Amino acid sequence: MEMKSVKLVCFSPTGTSKRVVQGIAEGMGLGLGTVELIDITTPAARKQSLSMSDNELLVIAVPVYMGRVPALLEEWLGAMQAENTPAVCVVVYGNRAYENALLELRDVVAERGFLPIAGAAYIGEHSFSSDNAPTAQGRPNADDLRHAREFGGKVRDKLQSVSSHTQLAEVTVPGSFPYEGRTNLWDVDFISVSDECVQCGVCAEVCPMGAVDPDNSSRIDQVKCITCCACIKKCPHNARTMKPGPVMDAQNRLITLYAEPKQPEYYI
Ligand SMILES: Cc1cc2nc3c(=O)[nH]c(=O)nc-3n(C[C@H](O)[C@H](O)[C@H](O)COP(=O)(O)O)c2cc1C
Repeated sequence: MEMKSVKLVCFSPTGTSKRVVQGIAEGMGLGLGTVELIDITTPAARKQSLSMSDNELLVIAVPVYMGRVPALLEEWLGAMQAENTPAVCVVVYGNRAYENALLELRDVVAERGFLPIAGAAYIGEHSFSSDNAPTAQGRPNADDLRHAREFGGKVRDKLQSVSSHTQLAEVTVPGSFPYEGRTNLWDVDFISVSDECVQCGVCAEVCPMGAVDPDNSSRIDQVKCITCCACIKKCPHNARTMKPGPVMDAQNRLITLYAEPKQPEYYI
């Protein structure tokens, strides 16, 4: 079955989910003009909803937060519309565990009218990782991206093996319902801003929640902040670091408990 167009959707504060979804698309060997990347990381981008038809393909990638799909995406995901549009669901996690996130994403897209035909879990550098306390640093690495391209090729083969979406088998992925785990994140003051800060505004631009004051980057709305660490990782002056507290404690737990590299998995 021929796809008229492919939409790659990602929510990716620190960029790992975006790199994975782009790797998958590369492996599908799609012609220029067929693929559209819809990055829903910023609040402005999430104002536009998604509507797709049966001769299109959705590839969606989100990070795992507390073993779940990030709760802030509930509204945007719940507004998606599709008519038997084949969908590939991808979660990216920081080498701890993805728990029920892949199943949850699969179920959400199915409820919105998509046909989940494949799923995968990749490893991305942990949001809390730093040079001093690295977890899955540099991932997705070259091997992960090779895996992503191979997976993209398998998705293309599955689509090309049928003449209509009615012949496509739905994918089964690991996980259990109820998904459990916590979806409310910490409400903490955990970012320290040093004198290196020149108020360039990059932190406010990259914040997926609009939680950083664009006129004073030290002012962070703790209630809006989801501790994604995009502002820390993307600061061009390395002026933002973690203060001691629960996020730093989690960072330290990760380096001791989850040092063994996990490997990507796909289901098709
Ligand atoms: C609030 C929060 C919760 C997280 N929970 C998990 C988790 O349960 N398991 C895990 O392995 N990684 C977890 N991570 C790490 C991210 O899933 C991982 O770093 C991912 O690659 C980030 O994606 P991005 O680069 O697209 O933002 C969490 C990160 C944050 C910020």
